[in-house]
Amino acid sequence: MKAITYSDYGPPDVLHVEEVPAPEPGDDEVLIRVRAAEATKSDTEMRSFRFAVNWFWLPLRLAIGVRKPRQRILGGYFAGEVVALGNDVTRLAVGNEVYGTAGIRFGAYGEYVSLPASYTIVPKPTNMSFAEAAAVPLGALNALHFLRLANIQKGEKVLINGAGGSIGAYGVQIAKSMGAEVTAVDKSIKEDFIRRMGADHFIDYTKEDFAAAGETYDVIFDMVPGSDYGACVRLLNPNGRYLTGNPTFSFMLRSVFTTWFSDKTVLFRFARESKEELLALKTMIEAGEIGSIVEKVYPMEGAAEAHRRVETEERLGALVIAIGG
Ligand SMILES: NC(=O)c1ccc[n+]([C@@H]2O[C@H](COP(=O)([O-])OP(=O)(O)OC[C@H]3O[C@@H](n4cnc5c(N)ncnc54)[C@H](OP(=O)(O)O)[C@@H]3O)[C@@H](O)[C@H]2O)c1
Repeated sequence: MKAITYSDYGPPDVLHVEEVPAPEPGDDEVLIRVRAAEATKSDTEMRSFRFAVNWFWLPLRLAIGVRKPRQRILGGYFAGEVVALGNDVTRLAVGNEVYGTAGIRFGAYGEYVSLPASYTIVPKPTNMSFAEAAAVPLGALNALHFLRLANIQKGEKVLINGAGGSIGAYGVQIAKSMGAEVTAVDKSIKEDFIRRMGADHFIDYTKEDFAAAGETYDVIFDMVPGSDYGACVRLLNPNGRYLTGNPTFSFMLRSVFTTWFSDKTVLFRFARESKEELLALKTMIEAGEIGSIVEKVYPMEGAAEAHRRVETEERLGALVIAIGG
């Protein structure tokens, strides 16, 4: 099969298309013909081995390969078709059009990927193309997971920091579908895109510090590393919730004190990915509550270009690689 591979950590040009053996499904696995995979920030971080939060550098490097990556095919989020099932698999059927996550196995940048049937793989939304569906799991699963934790009530004021990213763009749509008034923070080139996602207010972080704008919020959903913890907590209304995807050690410690000794709650999580949540997203998509965020679809040979575009931080939505012919 054809796959986008990399043999060394480094810049986007380490990615190449080559022929590799196709995987065989084990007894508990499902073999998927991948039709599209999202080019994500995590893929670029794994490729370059550069991360916004450094504390897990050593354990991660030990896990994925000290000198070279052990798994040479990236791609954690995909849409495709089930083409074979292991002997013990009863949950899906050959011919199902699915979308989902490859977890720590990666491999969705290849024409075929074999994954445990227990993974977060479910029928894809019927009103989305493979490319549109491939862009859902990363951003929307994380956004839904965090925003459900916040238990948003109709009319609550929600600030989303990093609203133009994969997670933020779905965060805006999902918070709106929960009835929130949404303030989005990102760069002005993304304002039109973010307002199309449904944001009510927009703050350009290069021109204005949202912490100094004089507004307070019921929920702050923060996907930007290095935010000012104290400033964010001070912006919360009574019973406010601050959710972050990029906790530092100091953040984690302070969050315990804030949550125990004040009327505010600080939550940091490594979002789990669940079939129930991905099915809930399918329902929301088919009901028109949330829509596609795809900016561009690249051929497999354009993988390095897609990664470069992810790294510029200027994309307006998700970048997807069409896999196979
Ligand atoms: N905890 C978890 O379970 C979990 C799961 C997945 C991802 N994450 C982390 O969550 C973060 C976001 O992921 P993502 O995939 O959505 O990333 P992304 O697509 O790169 O989105 C980040 C967005 O934040 C914007 N941004 C950067 N600096 C900013 C600032 N100072 N103020 C406001 N906006 C700013 C970026 O735009 P510009 O840079 O162009 O301004 C970009 O639009 C990543 O750091 C990732 O590692 C956590």
